[in-house]
Amino acid sequence: MNKDGIEIYPNLPDAAAAAASEIARISAQAIAERGRFTLALSGGSTPRALYAILAEDYKDAIDWKNVLLFWGDERYVPHDDPASNFRLVKESLLDFIPIPAENVFPIPTRNPNPEVAAQTYSTTLQSAFGEKHPTFDLILLGLGPDGHTASLFPGMDLDKDADKVAIVTNAPFVPPVRISLTLALINHARHVFFLVSGKEKAGILLEVLESRGDEETKYPAARVEGDVRWFVDRDAAGNI
Ligand code: 6PG
Repeated sequence: MNKDGIEIYPNLPDAAAAAASEIARISAQAIAERGRFTLALSGGSTPRALYAILAEDYKDAIDWKNVLLFWGDERYVPHDDPASNFRLVKESLLDFIPIPAENVFPIPTRNPNPEVAAQTYSTTLQSAFGEKHPTFDLILLGLGPDGHTASLFPGMDLDKDADKVAIVTNAPFVPPVRISLTLALINHARHVFFLVSGKEKAGILLEVLESRGDEETKYPAARVEGDVRWFVDRDAAGNI
């Protein structure tokens, strides 16, 4: 069901399956038009269902040798830490698909100074895209309980870093230190998908959807604009 551009599915597996199908379609179009598909992955727990579907049902259906994988954000922990978004993607997707190692661009988290990591990742992206402000074909995002997305949190000045690619942020959740793509870079993408699931997100989802377009909104997720699609399950859509 589609309500105000929000695509509502009976449950998370169905919402994830729909997103996976659209990722495959967009990837084929990007590869046909530009020879490659650039995708930034989200972290947290919700996307595990999507990554499992991509690993299981699209192992051969997506041309992974022409896909470049990045992360929209990362917790500043070792890549084998249970909280690592790299580990989430490795365990649920990378270990199952035929993607060349050189096509996978994790956010580095070994330098004692996260600012160096953010700058390194920014340079990596600019070099991979050949653009000062990389244009992703697709960025996957989740929605936090406080309206955050990627690792952009309420209370942050989201506009001061408009000329940057990746920045260090501080989360009100553990692990606190994060690396995140900036809002400006997210809004520069050709497509953005949100995947949202669960009754606990129903309240914040409604507030975020209702404050879209409001420059003063305190919710970073409400500042995401462009070709944005919301794949949500019925539980998360309970209030809309
Ligand atoms: C992260 C994510 C973050 C996530 C939301 C939703 O690193 O935690 O990038 O933005 O998408 O917090 O997380 P859940 O899917 O676990 O609810």
